[in-house]
Amino acid sequence: MIIGITKEIKANENRVACTPEGVNEFVKRGHTVYVESGAGCGSGFSDEDYQNQGAKILKTPEELYGKSDMIYKVKEIFPEEYKFLREGLIVFTYIHSNAHRDQTDALLENKVTSIAYEDVTDKNGGFPLLKPMSEIAGKGGFIAALNFTQKIHGGKGILLTRVHGVRTPEITIIGAGNSGLGAAELAASFGNKVTILDVNMNQLEKAKEILPPNVELLYSNEQNIIKCLRRTDVLMNCILWPKSRKDHLVSRDMLKLMKPESLIVDVACDEAGAIETCRSTTHADPVYTEEGIIHYCVDNIPAAFPQTSTYTLCNATLPFALEMADKGVKQALIDDKYLRRGLTSYEGELTLEETGKKQQRPYTPPEKVLGME
Ligand SMILES: NC(=O)c1ccc[n+]([C@@H]2O[C@H](COP(=O)([O-])OP(=O)(O)OC[C@H]3O[C@@H](n4cnc5c(N)ncnc54)[C@H](O)[C@@H]3O)[C@@H](O)[C@H]2O)c1
Repeated sequence: MIIGITKEIKANENRVACTPEGVNEFVKRGHTVYVESGAGCGSGFSDEDYQNQGAKILKTPEELYGKSDMIYKVKEIFPEEYKFLREGLIVFTYIHSNAHRDQTDALLENKVTSIAYEDVTDKNGGFPLLKPMSEIAGKGGFIAALNFTQKIHGGKGILLTRVHGVRTPEITIIGAGNSGLGAAELAASFGNKVTILDVNMNQLEKAKEILPPNVELLYSNEQNIIKCLRRTDVLMNCILWPKSRKDHLVSRDMLKLMKPESLIVDVACDEAGAIETCRSTTHADPVYTEEGIIHYCVDNIPAAFPQTSTYTLCNATLPFALEMADKGVKQALIDDKYLRRGLTSYEGELTLEETGKKQQRPYTPPEKVLGME
């Protein structure tokens, strides 16, 4: 197969889908890899690093899309890239088709076979291609908290660590999943008083096993959230809020319970989601204040740590990309039900049920389009 690795065009997106080591894995198996010039720059890889592992460098996205069987990238396809889509092309990336109707149109009209990282599952029902980025987002969210609690960065001026003779800072984390556990691990290791809340007792059990004793594990209900809001210095939201929910876990009114100039780090970043006052921000302009509470809601935290996140992302996605290259996309999808769960479009048909429902358009189950039933 011919694999094309693009240079990402989203602002501040420094990740690249594949490391030079990853390229070596394709080349060893007899595949051809094209890399767009400069694709690895933000992650610390030069064109030469890729060439040394057997890749060929192409100057423009036109050439890359035109010559490749499978485009291997990080972010969704942006409108500037729609003109490169064509029948038979395979795209393996984060797609979020339910949020981008025009992208779904472009994938279907051009009969692209697209597989979304975020929908690939594992045998435990987890999302193995989301997990590594969530962990980095949780940890990166705590690093942001270290920054935006500093007076010189507009915060109230506390150091998020245990200092003798001084009250220990309190950090509340809602959601003990991948990002919440990552945040709690760092926050606790700095000696803070950490409380993590979840509605899933199995997640709290898991948190108990892996986190140190300075982390309190609370069941997530309104009373416990209110108790935490009154005492916390930093609130971190790490839950995925269903798009259909119109209510909030932390309403605008509830912010009045918090100490002035406290910080909310909304890792989940669902616009008016679990936190009513959340709206997405960027690395260039990361914080704003509502009701006297500082909000940090950057929606691509891992982009700040490309040399870490490119490796973890590639480690997670590469086995699937190799499977598709080795077997051909159709056979790989037939053989691997976890990969098949990520199939978004196939030869002009929408195959992702939730996007069909959200965008009210017809969809066909992957098993049907693949001729398995
Ligand atoms: N900002 C970023 O850059 C970035 C990067 C990666 C992921 N994310 C987002 O972070 C969010 C969390 O991802 P994750 O992988 O950690 O999710 P996850 O599914 O691993 O964890 C979510 C946890 O929240 C818990 N939960 C659900 N409802 C709850 C409630 N009412 N109270 C308390 N806990 C509750 C669940 O039981 C689960 O344990 C997602 O929305 C994801 O899209 C953001």
